[in-house]
Amino acid sequence: MREKNEWKKNDVAILLLAGKGERLLSALKDKKQFLDFDGKALFLHPLTSLVLSRCFSKIVLVLAKEDEERVRRCLRQDTFLQKEKFQFVYGGQTRNESVRNALNSLEKKKGNFFVLIHDAARPFLTEKQVEAIMSKTYRADALTYCIPLSDSLFRQDGKGIEYLDRKNLYLVQTPQVFDYRKLLSLYRTGDVEDTTDDFSKAVRAGMKTLPLPGDLSLFKVTGEDDLSLLRMLSVLPS
Ligand code: CTP
Ligand code: MG
Repeated sequence: MREKNEWKKNDVAILLLAGKGERLLSALKDKKQFLDFDGKALFLHPLTSLVLSRCFSKIVLVLAKEDEERVRRCLRQDTFLQKEKFQFVYGGQTRNESVRNALNSLEKKKGNFFVLIHDAARPFLTEKQVEAIMSKTYRADALTYCIPLSDSLFRQDGKGIEYLDRKNLYLVQTPQVFDYRKLLSLYRTGDVEDTTDDFSKAVRAGMKTLPLPGDLSLFKVTGEDDLSLLRMLSVLPS
């Protein structure tokens, strides 16, 4: 485990924007990470917070090869981000493959460090949230934001509806943060393909984990309901 004051020196952020955005493709006619939101492409919002946090020695953008030109264009047109340098890595067919490509690209980086992994489809990440999770990396090898379920919950199958006790149930969000070498070794040795996030891999492997209270604002733009939410959020003052 690292010392309390070790963060901010050598850590890396990975922003995932290599998805196809299939569930919103018919509504948007484009991948959701490029949706124009408050005057700029959606993925630039969380990216700006990652940069502003000044927590990282490097930021990796995981993108589809076909989007490379437009990502570069978006960055050139952004008066703040145009001054920054990013490492580009091509994503894969699944989120896991995209994360794996990013982790592999960091293999030669020296020393021990943590990686923060964030979905570009969660645009409302704040620099405070980035700092808060990075500053707790001395306490665990894997950290995530999550929120307790506040609605009632049921499961419906062929047998009908069964209510579940929502007590002790949480929704898992990103950013998630990991000791780089430990996560890389899970990707290399473990069977990770059935998992949809990375914290679950750490839990399954028995790593020292720390869930932190997240915020509804870290929701993921996934379906059409989320577009209504985006519309509301862009017109309401904060
Ligand atoms: N992602 C990625 N590479 C993939 C799949 C997903 O980098 N092969 C990223 C997405 O760009 C997104 C995040 O992982 O920021 C969460 O994934 P999701 O919300 O499922 O996005 P998409 O896979 O793009 O959407 P869909 O599942 O509707 O196609
Ligand atoms: Mg997906």
